[in-house]
Amino acid sequence: MPTLFDPFSLKDVTLRNRIAVSPMCQYMSEEGVATDWHQGHYTSLARGGAGLVTLEATAISSEGRISWGDAGLWNDRQAEALVPIVRSIKHWGAVPGIQLAHAGRKASANRPWEGDDHIPAGQPNSWTPIAPSPVAFGANLTRVPQEMTLADIARVQADMVAAVERAREVGFQWLQLHFAHGYLAQNFWSSYSNQRTDQYGGSPENRGRYLLETLIAARRVWPEHLPLAVRMSVVEFDGQDERMLSESIELLRQMKAEGLDTVDVSIGFNTPNAQIPWGPSLLADIAARVLRESGLPGTTSWFIDSPQSADELVRSGKLDFVSLGRPFLANPHWPYFAAKELGVEAAATRTLPSPYAHWLARYR
Ligand SMILES: Cc1cc2nc3c(=O)[nH]c(=O)nc-3n(C[C@H](O)[C@H](O)[C@H](O)COP(=O)(O)O)c2cc1C
Repeated sequence: MPTLFDPFSLKDVTLRNRIAVSPMCQYMSEEGVATDWHQGHYTSLARGGAGLVTLEATAISSEGRISWGDAGLWNDRQAEALVPIVRSIKHWGAVPGIQLAHAGRKASANRPWEGDDHIPAGQPNSWTPIAPSPVAFGANLTRVPQEMTLADIARVQADMVAAVERAREVGFQWLQLHFAHGYLAQNFWSSYSNQRTDQYGGSPENRGRYLLETLIAARRVWPEHLPLAVRMSVVEFDGQDERMLSESIELLRQMKAEGLDTVDVSIGFNTPNAQIPWGPSLLADIAARVLRESGLPGTTSWFIDSPQSADELVRSGKLDFVSLGRPFLANPHWPYFAAKELGVEAAATRTLPSPYAHWLARYR
């Protein structure tokens, strides 16, 4: 079995190790355009030694942003601002990925550190959220979204295709569609937010239609030789997890047949009433089952908080690679730290650029 510091290949892409930076919204864009913040942030993550650096949830349209500070990829200015970021990630040896997203009924919120709640209609930086059905999330997100018409569905799918084309032209080598976390795709997949009676609601086949169609449309324009991923919520921790899990695995199988290459297994976050059993590697066994039963290679994140557990998840074959979020915010050189902890000296020395590695080799 491979270890954390063995390379991982998928299609024509090889990650230098099995450590990925999980997509993390920075809420620091201006009209969806990346800023100096992003250049520094992503450069430091790539330089820190991760194999894959996936950019944050990047909205496919203005209305698809969670907050006004979200990254976007619906115009050329936004695409151009990402070019030097992609160049820098590649320069430092990581594979540049991007997560494309539409926030659905969670759109039009304040940035997390400014309240994380819906901005009321009519106020600055507010717009009307859209979703499959006019059902609010609840808790801090109380706005009732506008129900999408069939024309809205077609328009949003066209926005996705246009964003995928831009991502391809910018030079991203790994594409992840955000089908999780209570955003638009998840709004279709989940009965909490989908009460439609047309072909997009009701049965698992109908609730999955938006996701499958979007995946197929994205695959048509995303190069065949590059990995196409989805981030898929497979559990809510709401007492009905076995049903959601088996339905999600079946949908992933169908997506695989349509060209999906890999999955990042995650949690629904589509109801405020979930009882999530937070703890170390809480999703690892569920993810292992999803990978095994769907036949897809993949990953998960959520509290994989030590080098030992990350290495064990790869060695045991539960995950093909690990994805980390907050550990990278705390320490962009997490792979170096992990290599040292695990005693993989060769990986430690090649993980950091010489102006850092030379000194740290003699230090700690
Ligand atoms: C600041 C922050 C922003 C996040 N933004 C996104 C995002 O854009 N897309 C996404 O799928 N998950 C997002 N997440 C979830 C992370 O990708 C990751 O799954 C989560 O932090 C759990 O991993 P961890 O325990 O290693 O932090 C975000 C998490 C954080 C902390």
